[in-house]
Amino acid sequence: MSENLARQFLLREDVVFLNHGSFGACPREVFSAYQGWQLELEREPVEFLGRKLNENLKAPREALGAELGSPAEDIVGVVNATHGLNIVAQSLDLKPGDQILTTDHEYNALEKTWAYVCRKTGAEVVVVNVPLPLLTEEQFTDTILAGMTDRTRVLFLSHITSPTALVFPIERAVAEARKRGIWTVIDGAHTPGHIKLDLTALGADFYAGNCHKWMMAPKGSAFLYARPEVQALLNPLVISHGWTIDSKKPGAKGAFDNSPFIDEIEIQGTRDPSAWLTVPAALKYRADNDWWAIAEHCQALAQDTARRMGKLTGLEPLSESEFCAPQMVAIPIPDCDALQVHKTLFDDYGIEIPVFKWQDRCIARLSVQGYNSRPQMDQLIEALSALLNLNPRAASFG
Ligand SMILES: Cc1ncc(COP(=O)(O)O)c(C=O)c1O
Repeated sequence: MSENLARQFLLREDVVFLNHGSFGACPREVFSAYQGWQLELEREPVEFLGRKLNENLKAPREALGAELGSPAEDIVGVVNATHGLNIVAQSLDLKPGDQILTTDHEYNALEKTWAYVCRKTGAEVVVVNVPLPLLTEEQFTDTILAGMTDRTRVLFLSHITSPTALVFPIERAVAEARKRGIWTVIDGAHTPGHIKLDLTALGADFYAGNCHKWMMAPKGSAFLYARPEVQALLNPLVISHGWTIDSKKPGAKGAFDNSPFIDEIEIQGTRDPSAWLTVPAALKYRADNDWWAIAEHCQALAQDTARRMGKLTGLEPLSESEFCAPQMVAIPIPDCDALQVHKTLFDDYGIEIPVFKWQDRCIARLSVQGYNSRPQMDQLIEALSALLNLNPRAASFG
């Protein structure tokens, strides 16, 4: 982590940007590859979208599949994780009384998605409380298993949670659900490029993730994974050229000679696929710069900052550090007007960081990416100390 790395990004210099988690940030080199695709599209739209697209769409599937432990044909490009998870939620055949089991740490847009599905189908959402602090894998799995009934049809879990920035240890819960014939749907919005993933080994039925967050691809690049055995359960949200009348017949091909899963979801009328096509460039940038090593430094800085804040506030962390997202930490802060603190941090200190109320806690969710530095962490602690009337000497500056 150095000024040199910060210069590789396009972020404004007058902002201390500590919110990579919301929408990511794209390095210059990757952004320029993205603009290269857009330029090529604009220069000959018919060749690009009409003749070359099917071939060009293979590279991101292959590169991402290799990175995430999935055959290329089990992954499709979508614009964001919300889109991918909506395809799944709106496709599954749910009936009145069926249950969707989930936790109280989920992302708002997906809570709404399941509420919408329930309104349409008569199914119901069952929310289990994952208590904090999260201390052991057994504690997590037991909580999930205790929520399963003979009416549970879907298990929906975040892999990395949004409000609490925890890595849920989902492996055993997924395996247990699969054993019971429950569909497993995983929200991996924050995982690609953040933790190492092996989708085949995990064995979830459906998994959606964003490439535009921690993988640092341009906004609008995400994927949906589905195990081959369940791909035929899915329907696209938009019917377009990729759809065929026979797509549900065994062994059917999609309109462009890929599987129906790929052709029906990836071809959705006229739109700009440049962000998705840039995924291989993002992976190359990460490999060229040994990004997993940079991420380790970020993790150390994030944990250190959380510890220093903990000393100041006297508040316990939300989990054992093994369940803390490597580059994102939800730091508990004393009760405050969270919206006002968030606004003042930006307006008066130039610090971009989410501060919010979640259940009965106030949280500042710190993201640390390669462009961040220790002096920026000092700035955050000083600003929070001033706003929350804490004593910064307890956090040992330097
Ligand atoms: C856990 C989780 N799921 C889903 C999303 C939605 O991501 P997107 O808006 O890219 O679909 C987010 C966004 O931050 C998230 O944190």
